[in-house]
Amino acid sequence: MQIEIKIYDDRQSLSASAAERWLSLYRESIAKHGVFHVALAGGSTPRQLYQLLTRPDISQQVEWQRVHIYFGDERAVPPDHPDSNFRMAKEALLDHVPIPRANIYRIETERGDMREAALHYEQLLVNNLPETEEGVPQFDLVLLGIGPDGHTASLFPDTDILQQQERYVDAVYVKQKSTWRVSITFPVINHARHVLFLVAGADKQAVVQQILSDSQYSPRLPVQMLKPAGQVEMYLDSDAAGQVASPGGYT
Ligand code: 6PG
Repeated sequence: MQIEIKIYDDRQSLSASAAERWLSLYRESIAKHGVFHVALAGGSTPRQLYQLLTRPDISQQVEWQRVHIYFGDERAVPPDHPDSNFRMAKEALLDHVPIPRANIYRIETERGDMREAALHYEQLLVNNLPETEEGVPQFDLVLLGIGPDGHTASLFPDTDILQQQERYVDAVYVKQKSTWRVSITFPVINHARHVLFLVAGADKQAVVQQILSDSQYSPRLPVQMLKPAGQVEMYLDSDAAGQVASPGGYT
């Protein structure tokens, strides 16, 4: 996986740069096919980026009716639950920009049956996203975080979903958290036109080091199992970067 690394002093500058990058990818996608299909990351790191996108000087550069918002994964909670990735995005971004409600595609995990929710979301991706030559639904941008254990989206170590190469969305029981999740799978992330990782915090140092010193012999973390065909960028704050050499491309 060829990753272009950028290192920032702090979360604020990381988020500001991510907002500029989001805008440039938005413009590129609009020029390419008139819409911008983006999968949001959950967790805490991307919140500041989402808040920045609501700032008038940024938001007014976006034709929000051309933006379609999806989610890379969701927890098994209602949409108004404090743990909901949808709720975080709604509070930080979606309630503050003029995006049509019909352009927001929530993973409906409150349905109770997580496999049913995954099937429903997979069909939604198939119905709304353009597909690659291989017939895989293609996002213009997938935003991702990385956990200290090397998970990304809800692709956690030692879970069945890591073997999922057919389905585009799947339900996964995450024993480490004793809970179910619904997540996009490797095929969908690998076929995205752009993947942008936002990684901050000293607890990510070890996993960042392992990713960047990747050799085919090192134990494979889920994030190292990705084989994106599109462009992959990773924005790190200095806490997460630790002793990583100066930014540049890594393979
Ligand atoms: C989630 C995310 C998950 C997250 C990482 C990093 O639902 O929690 O999909 O993959 O991006 O755990 O989370 P932080 O940004 O909070 O460190």
